[in-house]
Amino acid sequence: MLFEEMWRELAPVGRFDATGGYRRYSYTPAELECRAWFTAQATSRGLTVEADANGNLWAWWGDPDEGNAVVTGSHLDSVPDGGAFDGPLGVVSAFAAVDLLRASGFTPAKPIGVAAFVEEEGARFGIACLGSRLLTGAIDPAKARALTDEHGVSLADAMAGAGLDPAAIGRDQRLLDRVGVYVELHIEQGRAQIDLDAPVAVGSAIWPHGRWRFDFEGEANHAGTTRIEDRVDPMLTYANTVLAARKKARVAGALATVGKVHCEPNGTNAIPSRVRAWIDARASTEDTLGAVLADLEKATHERADRDGTRVTVTRESYSAEVAFDAALRDNLGALLGDVPVLATGAGHDAGVLASSLPTAMLFVRNPTGVSHAPGEFAEMTDCLVGAEALATVLRKLAA
Ligand code: GLV
Ligand code: MN
Ligand code: MN
Ligand code: MN
Repeated sequence: MLFEEMWRELAPVGRFDATGGYRRYSYTPAELECRAWFTAQATSRGLTVEADANGNLWAWWGDPDEGNAVVTGSHLDSVPDGGAFDGPLGVVSAFAAVDLLRASGFTPAKPIGVAAFVEEEGARFGIACLGSRLLTGAIDPAKARALTDEHGVSLADAMAGAGLDPAAIGRDQRLLDRVGVYVELHIEQGRAQIDLDAPVAVGSAIWPHGRWRFDFEGEANHAGTTRIEDRVDPMLTYANTVLAARKKARVAGALATVGKVHCEPNGTNAIPSRVRAWIDARASTEDTLGAVLADLEKATHERADRDGTRVTVTRESYSAEVAFDAALRDNLGALLGDVPVLATGAGHDAGVLASSLPTAMLFVRNPTGVSHAPGEFAEMTDCLVGAEALATVLRKLAA
């Protein structure tokens, strides 16, 4: 099946018509449909397909038990109202690269794998790259099983509902031993390549990043009768934290975002009792990131003292700085000619897997620079250049 046909087939799955964005949350019907699409693509190519113990999908050309497999892929889940490309582009390109290699008569000396990692965005259970973290042992299985979505459904129950055994999750050495190298192709999530006039780039590093949950507690009371000086309003402390996060990140050359917030009881005419907000923060060095968070926590506690509110801060996930395998990166650069080598502030399974095996990334130009939003875009001509580049890389690595 042609790249364009695969793309068209996947395009309607999980699209939310009101916004044009995607809501493909792990183990929900939309994501299960994406998984069925993956299985159908693999099967139609005669690849062996399996879900591993952690819910990640694998399709194999050749026998993976021979080891030293060359694996490529990405993820199929999305952020709330995400774009079409973040994740799926890497999976579609992986199948397209297999097609290109076969059409050219190439016979790989090593097994080639196509992977789709589950819950990369952490949109349902809160921890990004959950599938690759479980695979590599970067998260405690018991902690993962107990993660819940916004309806209180646990990962364990969601997996069981999808026919997987939650008792079996955790580091999978047998699977890791099969894989020699992982190369992930991904839509670019900024505007560097448009400025550099480069359809394809090679990844060098991922900024350290993490998610912190801020719980603000105050006292619910009447909006019309409670004197201003009598209020214990957690919304005020929260609002101050949003402003402080932005200011401290800007001063440090870092990034801080509050994109998710819950307010209780969420009534128009009541001062809230609780506000829960998540800060996503990223920086080019761990020292900078640590300093921004330390500063922000201090400012938040000072403000809470003034407001009479209480605040607790919980680090929900953290990803240290990742430098992709230098030899592999140089190898890709040499193979693809004069392509830019770029670091990114976005997290990827390739970053998590880098702790266990050599990994690399390819980026495909995004003319809008928009990502994690419906406006995310890549020209089909660039996507095809990306798939060709991936095929070139696989041909070399699997020879
Ligand atoms: C995942 O895409 C992230 O960078 O948040
Ligand atoms: Mn993403
Ligand atoms: Mn992604
Ligand atoms: Mn990502």
